[in-house]
Amino acid sequence: MNHFLDINKTSAADLHKIISEGHRIKTARKGLPKGTPDAEQPLANHMVALIFEKPSTRTRVSFDVGVRQMGGETMVLSGRDMQLGHGETIADTARVLSRYVDMIMIRTFEEATLLEMAEYASVPVINGLTDRTHPCQIMADIMTFEENNGPIKGKKVVWTGDGNNVCASFIHAAGQFGFDLTFAGPEQLDPEQVFVDEARAKGVNITIERDAEKAVQGADLVVADTWVSMHDAQSARERRHNLLRPYQVNDALMAQAKPDAKFMHCLPAHRGEEVTNPVMDGPQSLVFDEAENRLHAQKAVMRWCLGA
Ligand code: CP
Ligand code: NVA
Repeated sequence: MNHFLDINKTSAADLHKIISEGHRIKTARKGLPKGTPDAEQPLANHMVALIFEKPSTRTRVSFDVGVRQMGGETMVLSGRDMQLGHGETIADTARVLSRYVDMIMIRTFEEATLLEMAEYASVPVINGLTDRTHPCQIMADIMTFEENNGPIKGKKVVWTGDGNNVCASFIHAAGQFGFDLTFAGPEQLDPEQVFVDEARAKGVNITIERDAEKAVQGADLVVADTWVSMHDAQSARERRHNLLRPYQVNDALMAQAKPDAKFMHCLPAHRGEEVTNPVMDGPQSLVFDEAENRLHAQKAVMRWCLGA
């Protein structure tokens, strides 16, 4: 049994295996109606709890559909409605849930909640986003880049905007998949230094650049995310917008990247803020492939977790 907690906590060999498994799983059911079970049913007789302490569209639906297509059953739980939200400890919740279900996916605020859940659960725990990281998203993103532009190893990825949870998982991935990463954003919203230091110690080429146009020169992939994440205070909205406006991904910025560069966004996007409509809907955009690949990549993650 394996927990899937972060990209830097899973071996590079296993991550590569999961990605190729994702491609295989995707190919195997091309064109089938969504309700058709997969030919392989590795989750038959398995029960999976999907816990959400924050809103979600993609994570909720892709995990739910993925488990069902693999033959399992799901229950979607809101943290607020559980005793977890009313003082029961995470450790006790983990021990109790482990008696009922075969796997737990949790989207939460504090990373400590995820880690405590994993420590006390006797079933695999999957990180469906915390304030600090979003590893399942980045597995789908690597899969998406590679199916369009080939191996990501040695490529130049430019993160634009806020150095947030999704950015942190990209930094982890740079180390594990061997690509160069440039962060283009304001100093006030830099990624946590510990992520950068850890990646550099592994030999990752990480550049911090304040000038967006300079940053995207020669980029193979340009990535954006919301300027205000779910865990950010709404009161910080105006300040963040002011700081981040120079990093909007628009046609002029994309024109500085390589001609075959791609654009990615984990979604939900705020059109007209971090990215313009022409980029979101243009030929370089892979945003909906990324969303689809959450389904396929996470199936591979779940199989790896269960050794199934
Ligand atoms: N990208 C992503 O995780 O989307 P949701 O918040 O809709 O799950
Ligand atoms: N950075 C965003 C990602 C949403 C999927 C957030 O945490 O709100």
